[in-house]
Amino acid sequence: MGFPERFLDELTVKTDMIALVSNYTQPVRRGTRWFARCPFHSEKTPSFTVTPESGLFYCFGCQAGGGPIQFVMRAENLEFADAVRFLAARLGLAVPEEDDGAFKVKRERLLEVNRMAARWYYETLSGEGERCAEYMRGRGMSPAFARRFGLGYAPDRWDGLMMALGARGVSNDELFHAGLASRGQKGGLYDAFRDRLMFPIFDLRGQVIGFSGRALSGEAAAKYKNSAESPVYQKRGVLYAAHLARKSEKPFWILCEGNVDVFMLHQAGYDNAVATCGTALTDMQARLIARHVSETVLAYDADAAGQNATGKASSLLEAAGVKVRVLRLRGAKDPDEFIRAYGSGAFDKLIMDSSNHTEYRLSLIEGKHPPDSDAEKLEYLREATLLLAGLPTQGERFVYGSRVAKRLGISEKAVLKDVDIAVAKRRRGAEKAEQAQTLRPRRQQNSAPLAEEKALAILFRRPELETELSAADFTNEETRQLFLARETPPHTMSAGTARLYAKLMAEHEGLDNDAAALKDCERRIKERALLAAGDVMAKYKRYKDTKTPKETRDGS
Ligand code: GTP
Ligand code: MN
Repeated sequence: MGFPERFLDELTVKTDMIALVSNYTQPVRRGTRWFARCPFHSEKTPSFTVTPESGLFYCFGCQAGGGPIQFVMRAENLEFADAVRFLAARLGLAVPEEDDGAFKVKRERLLEVNRMAARWYYETLSGEGERCAEYMRGRGMSPAFARRFGLGYAPDRWDGLMMALGARGVSNDELFHAGLASRGQKGGLYDAFRDRLMFPIFDLRGQVIGFSGRALSGEAAAKYKNSAESPVYQKRGVLYAAHLARKSEKPFWILCEGNVDVFMLHQAGYDNAVATCGTALTDMQARLIARHVSETVLAYDADAAGQNATGKASSLLEAAGVKVRVLRLRGAKDPDEFIRAYGSGAFDKLIMDSSNHTEYRLSLIEGKHPPDSDAEKLEYLREATLLLAGLPTQGERFVYGSRVAKRLGISEKAVLKDVDIAVAKRRRGAEKAEQAQTLRPRRQQNSAPLAEEKALAILFRRPELETELSAADFTNEETRQLFLARETPPHTMSAGTARLYAKLMAEHEGLDNDAAALKDCERRIKERALLAAGDVMAKYKRYKDTKTPKETRDGS
C-alpha cells in the first residue's frame, strides 16, 4: 500500500502544524519554536515543541516526534492511511486511493455495516421487540431518549440480522468482520447478539462502531455482551456517549460504569455522562477526557469493585491533568438506581457534595486507620502527611492539613510541620532526578552517538556542506539510517528514523551548525571508530592468548 509521494508532500506542506496541534494542547511561541504541554504524556511543564517551518514536532519528555501524519496517528489513534485521510479531510483535499483501495473499502464498509445493523435493531424494536420495549419501560427509559441513543433490539433468533442484512447486500463474512456474527464449532456463522437490548457505540463523530447488548433474560450466559474489537472499534480508546458529552455545555464530564447509567443520566439532564465499555479506564480514555474537560466527576458503583476502580481512574485522570471529584452514592448501587429512587434533584445534590480527590483519599486513609488508638492515629498521620505533601499548592496543604489536625485532635502546627518536612524531601528527590536527567547527556558529550547526531543535524540543515563520513562510520542503526535517508523527504522514513530526525532538528536548532562544527564531529566519530578498532585488537589478543597451546609456551 502507499499513497503517491506528491500527495503526501502536499499534505505535509499544506498542514499548519500549529493549528493542528492546537486542537490537542496550547502551544506558546518562543522564538522560532512553539512549546506546549505534551498531548501524548502527562506533564506539568511544556517539553513538547513544534517548529512550524519544518512542520515537525518533538517531545523532549517522551521522545515522540515526527511530522503531521505521525502526530495525527498518535493524537487520534489512527493507522498511517487513516491519519492521511484525516489530514486530507481537514484540508479539503481529495485522497488518491488507487494504491490503497482495499483498505479504505474495508474500513468504510465496516462502518456502513454497523450503521445498517443499528438501523435494523432499531426498527426491530417496534415490531418483534415488544418484550424489549416493555423491559425499557420497566426501567424508566423513555422512547425519546431511546431514539437519541439509537437503542434497538436483537431478536431471539440465530440468523435475524444475517437474513435482514443479507437481503441488503451484506455478506455473512462482512458481518463476521464487524463482530456482528459469530462462528460456531462447525464453522457456521450465526448472529452474535440474540434477545438483547442493543446500545450502539459511537465514535466522536457519531458513527456507529460497535454495540453493547444487555440480556433480557437471566438465562443468558452474560448480562452484557460487547462487540468484538475490529478495525473500527477498539475498546481502550472509546467512551460511551462521548459524542454527545462533547457537545454538553457543562464544564465537566460524569464518568460512570454502565451504559444504562449513562442513559439514565442523560435522560435526567446530564448530557455530560460517559462510560467505559465494560473495562477499567485506560490512559487513552483519560487523555480523551482531558482534551474536552478539565474536571470529571467519578460516579462509579458503590460496591468494592467500583471503589477500587475509582482509585485507579482518578490516578490516571490526575496524571492526564484532569481534576477529579468523587461522587459518593448513598442508598443505591449505581447512578441509574439512585436517580430512579430519588430523582435528578437529589443527584444534583450529590454532584454538589462530591468531594474532590483529596478529601476522598483522606476518607480512604480514615477507613484503613480509624484513629481510635494512638497507633492508628500515627499511621493515619503518616499516610495523610504523604498525601498532603503531594498537593500542588500551599493553600491546599493548609486546608487539608488543618482538617487532619482536627480529626486527630492534635495541633495544626504539628501536622503542617510534618507536611513541610515531607515536601522538602520530595523536592530533594525531584531535584536529584532532574539533575540525573540533565547530567546524563553531558557526561556522554564525547561519545560517538552524540557526535553522530550532531553531524546529522548539521548535514540536514546545511545540505551544501561536504562530508568525509560514510554510512559505515555510524555506530547506531538509526543514525546510520538517517544518514542514508539524507536525500529523501521525512515522510518516507521509518517511524524511528523520522522521530530521530525531528528530535535532531528540534535539539540542534540555532546551534553552531557550520563547517567547523561538522569537522569537529567528524573527528570525534573517526576517533571513536579507531577506539572501537582498538577494542577489537585487544579482544583478538585475549582470544589468541587462550588459544595458544600450552606445549608451545611451556616447551623449549
Ligand atoms: P444493569 O443491571 O443493566 O443496571 O447493569 P449496569 O449498568 O448496572 O451494569 P453493571 O454495573 O452490572 O456493569 C457495568 C458495565 O460493565 C456494563 O455496562 C457493561 O459494559 C459491563 N458488564 C457488566 N456485566 C458484563 C458481562 O457480563 N460481560 C461483559 N462483557 N461486560 C459486562
Ligand atoms: Mn445498573
